[in-house]
Amino acid sequence: MARCTEMGRDNPSGSRSGERARVLQTALRYFQQQLGLGFEDIYAPPPPRSFFADRAERIGELYHRIEGCTRCPLHKTRTHFVFGEGNPNAPIMFIGEAPGRDEDLRGRPFVGRAGQLLTKMLAAINFSREEVFIGNILKCRPPNNRDPLPTEVQLCEPHLHAQLTIIQPRLICALGRIAAQTLLKVTTPLSRLRGQVHDYRGIGLVATYHPAALLRNPQLKKGAWEDLLLLRREHDRLLEKNVR
Ligand code: URA
Repeated sequence: MARCTEMGRDNPSGSRSGERARVLQTALRYFQQQLGLGFEDIYAPPPPRSFFADRAERIGELYHRIEGCTRCPLHKTRTHFVFGEGNPNAPIMFIGEAPGRDEDLRGRPFVGRAGQLLTKMLAAINFSREEVFIGNILKCRPPNNRDPLPTEVQLCEPHLHAQLTIIQPRLICALGRIAAQTLLKVTTPLSRLRGQVHDYRGIGLVATYHPAALLRNPQLKKGAWEDLLLLRREHDRLLEKNVR
């Protein structure tokens, strides 16, 4: 609840504590009404199991619910649905564009050369892959790694929203222009999106270069390092303020 208030969220549906408060208020009204009507035995069905389940359980449930997704035509050409991986209690969620060839073959995000660089980038700011959550906007590989189509994003983004609702990371790091522009719904160049903390559905978002871009153009690494330092600083600031 504190987190919700401190971050000034206007999206209570994204907050588990807000959801719980609403359910408890409804239950209280129901009990008062029943007592007012003179009932002494009040029927109270158990809450749905997932309501109090912890994040690991809920993320597992989500995975099983969506792994067979056929919402868009990409399911026909995929080898694997790439859900994402990492800590269900992750303080930061790293979000790329879409699985590439290696990820499609292995069913895991960022496992090719770009993924190895991402692992090093995380280590540079003292995070391990296991500590954070790594995912993508699209869960299935677009043929020949073409850019995601707007309809694919529209159909797939609810999966990301569901992941964010469960994980509730302190921060998001958007990896690359496509991830940053797609999440923020802007066409602003990545150069202008970097260097500040944006808001994505009530969560701070820092944009940086895609690791694949850093492999193609190592000159960008200095800027990426500045972005990572901003991410770490903002993370530590929120931690200090006790924002989950
Ligand atoms: N590029 C991405 O954007 N995501 C991956 O998972 C791998 C490469």
